[in-house]
Amino acid sequence: MKPEAAELTERQKREKEYYDQYASSFDLNRNIDFSPVSSTEKRPWNSYWAVYHFASGHYQEGSTLLDFGSGPGENALRFTKIGYQVEGFDISESNVAVSRKLFEKYDCADKGNFQVSPAEILPYQDSSFDMIVGVDILHHVDIKKSVTECRRVLKPGGIAIFREPVEVPVLDAIRNTAIVKFFAPKTKSFELHITDDERKLNSEDIRIVKSIFPSMEIKRYSILARFDKFFREGSDPEPSFLERLDYTLMNNVPFLKYLGGVVIFILKKEK
Ligand SMILES: C[S@@+](CC[C@H](N)C(=O)[O-])C[C@H]1O[C@@H](n2cnc3c(N)ncnc32)[C@H](O)[C@@H]1O
Repeated sequence: MKPEAAELTERQKREKEYYDQYASSFDLNRNIDFSPVSSTEKRPWNSYWAVYHFASGHYQEGSTLLDFGSGPGENALRFTKIGYQVEGFDISESNVAVSRKLFEKYDCADKGNFQVSPAEILPYQDSSFDMIVGVDILHHVDIKKSVTECRRVLKPGGIAIFREPVEVPVLDAIRNTAIVKFFAPKTKSFELHITDDERKLNSEDIRIVKSIFPSMEIKRYSILARFDKFFREGSDPEPSFLERLDYTLMNNVPFLKYLGGVVIFILKKEK
């Protein structure tokens, strides 16, 4: 049953405030890269492309998709190109306003609907969606409450996938030394897109996700590609050499996957 809305927590208020400001820099005239859904090329080594590939592979006519923490709506727009009727929600009113404008600009207003909502209490009825996709969202929210809500609104037989950064203790110990933090700060920044409260998922978070979706499967990405951020733009549409190298390494030396700093969770709700 749909729970009652509650007052925002301090963490939710900070995230909302950050993204209301961050969204104001979104340029509605910038070109959206549709290649992950329009190109015949496949990039299985890229975790973002893998999300779209998965969503395409599970599309059936009339399927509904919830973009879980939809941000400015670019991902949602790509999901409509696959054919999905999309719902999205986000805690930031400004992000929701940008999403609506973006859908109007691309003549897709009838294919997407956006609401302001925290992930921890969703405004949807039980069993509403065939597919739920979340990109870089769980590490901003209360995981137990949000994944429980995800399960509630997913239809029996439906699938949820989330792409998230995760801790790799041995590498994060190096990342968290003072010298590395000096050259690559981790404090709140609009330029680096870091909020006060976001944090990589740890083994306890993964255990919580699995307790809610016991059939959880995990795919791992990004060992050396974590260095891409030092010499590539985040939005660079060209394939990353390091991502491809990681993919080859992880496929050939299976234990290396535990060094992967990005995961995709594949979560199925039984029929
Ligand atoms: C890194 S962005 C990802 C947005 C989008 N999924 C994308 O890939 O562009 C994180 C998003 O989480 C939203 N957010 C943060 N805390 C939230 C919460 N408790 N409930 C819902 N959305 C939240 C932010 O407003 C922001 O849009």
